[in-house]
Amino acid sequence: MPHVLQHPLAHHILTHLRDKTTKPATFRTLSQQIGVLLAIEATRDLPTKSVPIETPLEPMDGTVLGQGLVVVPILRAGLGMLQPYTDLFPNVSVGYVGLERDHETAVARSYYCKLPPMAGKRVLCVDPMLATGGSAAQALSVLKENGATDLRLVTIVSAPEGITAVESAHPDVPIITAVVDRELNASSYILPGLGDFGDRLYGT
Ligand code: PRP
Ligand code: URA
Repeated sequence: MPHVLQHPLAHHILTHLRDKTTKPATFRTLSQQIGVLLAIEATRDLPTKSVPIETPLEPMDGTVLGQGLVVVPILRAGLGMLQPYTDLFPNVSVGYVGLERDHETAVARSYYCKLPPMAGKRVLCVDPMLATGGSAAQALSVLKENGATDLRLVTIVSAPEGITAVESAHPDVPIITAVVDRELNASSYILPGLGDFGDRLYGT
């Protein structure tokens, strides 16, 4: 079962993302806002370590992040969820996987891949839409082939079909999502969904 974000603000933002009258500039802002909530949720269990520091008044043991973080947006829609990680995590590394669904078959085609070293790091694969699950399952396989072992998938809207597909292909990868929608339509779009995320993000 995916971990579903529980926050009133998440529902508020989602409603405006879904609204077909929301224009790309606002859509981009909302994507980043819900991306912040998801980034916090997806890193809640990051390990920490103790470090000795001195405040202006006395020595103390502080706490810092104890594991490196890699974030990998699936191009192109995943780019709308990237900035919260680069804003919040000073030492994050960023990789890119480019996948595009064929409009007729809904099967994803790979067109780009650039990944940093991932061994020993927490790797977050981010893509706003989990529909059939084909793109996410393919991306997760690529990340594993390139050394990722501690992996999470972070999405905004997930269809039950996509969750089932990813969970059966990658039972070791937790899914963190803002919402689970009803179903896919005949063209493999999520219902009620929000339409084509990439098109709405970039005004295409
Ligand atoms: C969208 C979305 C996912 C994929 C989900 O990308 O961002 O990557 O579809 O569908 P699936 O679960 O059925 O594979 P799209 O292929 O439209 O490309 P884009 O990000 O370039 O718009
Ligand atoms: N990709 C999208 O952008 N939207 C959907 O509903 C399904 C796949």
